[in-house]
Amino acid sequence: EVAPLLRSSFGVEADPATCNITPTIFERISRGLHLLEPPAGSPGPGYSTHPLALIRSIIQRALLEAIARSSDGKDNFAVFDNLPPFVRPEANFDHLLVAPGHPSRSFTDSYYASTECMLRTHSSAHQSELLRQGHRNFLVAADVYRRDEVDASHYPVFHQMEGMRLLDLDPAAGQTVDRALLPQGEGGPDAVGRQPALSQEASDRVEADLRAHVTAVLEGLFPPGTPIRWVDAYFPFTRPSFEVEVFFQGEWLEVLGCGVTQQAIIDEHYRPAGGASPDAPSGTVAGWAFGLGLERLAMVRFGIPDIRLFWSRDPRFLTQFDACDPAQPSTLDKVKFAPFSKYPLCYKDVAFWRADSLHDNDFFDVVRSVGGDLVDSGPLRATKAKAAVGQATARSPSASPRMGVLGAGGGATRRPTSLGSPARVGNSRSSPT
Ligand code: PHE
Repeated sequence: EVAPLLRSSFGVEADPATCNITPTIFERISRGLHLLEPPAGSPGPGYSTHPLALIRSIIQRALLEAIARSSDGKDNFAVFDNLPPFVRPEANFDHLLVAPGHPSRSFTDSYYASTECMLRTHSSAHQSELLRQGHRNFLVAADVYRRDEVDASHYPVFHQMEGMRLLDLDPAAGQTVDRALLPQGEGGPDAVGRQPALSQEASDRVEADLRAHVTAVLEGLFPPGTPIRWVDAYFPFTRPSFEVEVFFQGEWLEVLGCGVTQQAIIDEHYRPAGGASPDAPSGTVAGWAFGLGLERLAMVRFGIPDIRLFWSRDPRFLTQFDACDPAQPSTLDKVKFAPFSKYPLCYKDVAFWRADSLHDNDFFDVVRSVGGDLVDSGPLRATKAKAAVGQATARSPSASPRMGVLGAGGGATRRPTSLGSPARVGNSRSSPT
């Protein structure tokens, strides 16, 4: 049912027989959460920056600054944050030396519009095309798609950033590429250490440059002094490969994958002048790449407990990050995610006034008989108030501490001081009943 929509919305030739993209996934394409920022000059209510856009922006700035420090300005640093999510499976897998039988290629693991066209499973899918266009220093920010379970830490759509940089080698310093030793295919998980095609000097130079730039990115995201460690890893498209972890709030957390790009990828795809230059002298350059997940970083950094929250359009979520300024990464420390009710935002003020006296418990019984167990007294300021309404606190989902017909002020127990003024018993977020 989605196939015709893919054609009309994205110009994608979907094949109804093989397309496994569901309407729910279709709706998520192009939401562009990583780009949701207030239009220039219009900050304030209704114009919050999405937490994924905040993290993207900080990474972009940190990398740009690090590159400006380390290069002679010869390399143009290019940012691609809006590339179409539909790619050829070759670009997503083969160009990156992913093995022919790798499970991620299957229709059960990835979303395909047809056998020729899929939703990218990682931002690395753009490496080969950008190298072909002659780019040698770039950052990609992209929504990526993987068929997966749905729980607090998995979602079939998430966001990644990919950084890639090529360096001119200096043969005088022993930095060389031996093209006869280029890998023909995937090396397998025990292919660690330097690539045979790169001299030790070349590999070390690229790795040192990678470490400097990845460190700069993580220093932009985490408080000064946050420990960082590099753990050996395996990706088919890099060697050596690393997973980088940060020690944050008492735990080592894996935040990023990276490595020295397989020389075969550069050799096959890099066209220094762009287009189809016949014999690209790629034996004179080597490079690195990193990839990171924006959701994971935002969850760790802001204490967001559930990946599904990123899709919320609820101001109770979006406005929580208003104190962050990507130009001042220290402002991230001001924000700690505060849970809110999982029920939709809806204001219902109830105010009433009675000349004769009404006992609290009479009121609670009315509330209970109308609202049932969904109604909660909400957090109350006064202990006295808590004791008074404690018995009226219906069993309610613990995830909704602020929900209740009795507002946060504990109004129900506060008697009107003057009989002339109405007792305000609610300034409340009530249940949808
Ligand atoms: N694409 C990898 C992933 O999605 C991350 C990565 C990118 C690793 C670039 C190394 C180099 O897990």
